[in-house]
Amino acid sequence: MMENVLRVGIIGAGGIAEAVHIPNYLKHSNKVKIVAIADVVKDNAEKMANAFDINHIFTSYEEMLDTINLDAVSVCTPNKFHANATIAALQAGCHVICEKPPAMTVAEAEQMAETAKQYGKILTYGLSFRHTPEVGALKRFIDADELGEIYAARVHAIRRRGIPGWGVFTNKELQGGGPLIDIGVHMLDTALYLMGYPEPDTVFGVTYQKLGNQKGVGLAGEWDWKNFTIEDMARGMITFTNGASIILESAFAANTEKHDEMSVSLMGENGGADVFPLKMYQEKHETLIDITPSHLPIKDNYELQMERFIACCLNGEQPISTADQGVSLQKIINGLYESAEKGEAIKLTPAQVR
Ligand SMILES: NC(=O)c1ccc[n+]([C@@H]2O[C@H](COP(=O)([O-])OP(=O)(O)OC[C@H]3O[C@@H](n4cnc5c(N)ncnc54)[C@H](O)[C@@H]3O)[C@@H](O)[C@H]2O)c1
Repeated sequence: MMENVLRVGIIGAGGIAEAVHIPNYLKHSNKVKIVAIADVVKDNAEKMANAFDINHIFTSYEEMLDTINLDAVSVCTPNKFHANATIAALQAGCHVICEKPPAMTVAEAEQMAETAKQYGKILTYGLSFRHTPEVGALKRFIDADELGEIYAARVHAIRRRGIPGWGVFTNKELQGGGPLIDIGVHMLDTALYLMGYPEPDTVFGVTYQKLGNQKGVGLAGEWDWKNFTIEDMARGMITFTNGASIILESAFAANTEKHDEMSVSLMGENGGADVFPLKMYQEKHETLIDITPSHLPIKDNYELQMERFIACCLNGEQPISTADQGVSLQKIINGLYESAEKGEAIKLTPAQVR
């Protein structure tokens, strides 16, 4: 019998649970045991339990949380169920890592953050790009003031024909939106993290549905173009109370040269940077210089994300991605969608001091 073992439950036995959460917990089998898995589709839970030797399967996460004594939970469902599953797990006394985006609405993200505080449990999100070596290295340069005040950023998450042909990614009711909430969220969060998560002030967004609702070349499988209820492109501008601004573009399909662009560019008073790949720009001794790392540590960002979560649960480390930042992120995303719908800029409400 292992002592001080983290007893983990998985909610949602789909792609991300199989590729990221479960295998990375299993790398720490000396201190983590995946005890149970819940999925509304019994077959999915059963397949995953058989493949990874998980003892208990459930078709309801409520039943799993009522029946099994767990310390930590991974929430890996479609976005619509993130909030309820997370809140239930926190109330059952579990630490939670919930997949991105935090939720569907700001009210949900706020309730998730409040519940974590109320129950004194960790709530972190699968914002995996924060754990990349590029972001880690650039953060150290930024903390050493190499960029100075960062006042402008550009965020791109743009695929040429990358509409997911699996899961429910083209279903607005279950996901809350399209590329903005699914992949834009990663690059937006990366920029916000590196900028110190400034308080958002006003957002102005536009969305398009031009390519996704008709048959076309599918580089990420054949998608359900007949039931395509999301935007295929979102664009927007975000201003912050400190005067900074971000310009964002995100698309599952757009007529661009590159097939897949995930990039963040930062512009500060002392320097600028492109993050993927990492390159920095400065002016020194009357010379414009570029700084390129010739070596960065190679470790899978998903592996680091799960390692950090385990360390938070077992050793009291603090998560790199916090529940309050999740609220801020959700405000921007939902604000951009609201702005696109209304055709006008939206002034966001300031964060409540909790
Ligand atoms: N961090 C990343 O890079 C990354 C990558 C892919 C997906 N994700 C996120 O992970 C989540 C899941 O995506 P996926 O690709 O694994 O989807 P998926 O469709 O492969 O799997 C989702 C699973 O959840 C199950 N499910 C649905 N409702 C449920 C409920 N109420 N209770 C329990 N199970 C339920 C489904 O039956 C399915 O098995 C999404 O929020 C997505 O945004 C993150």
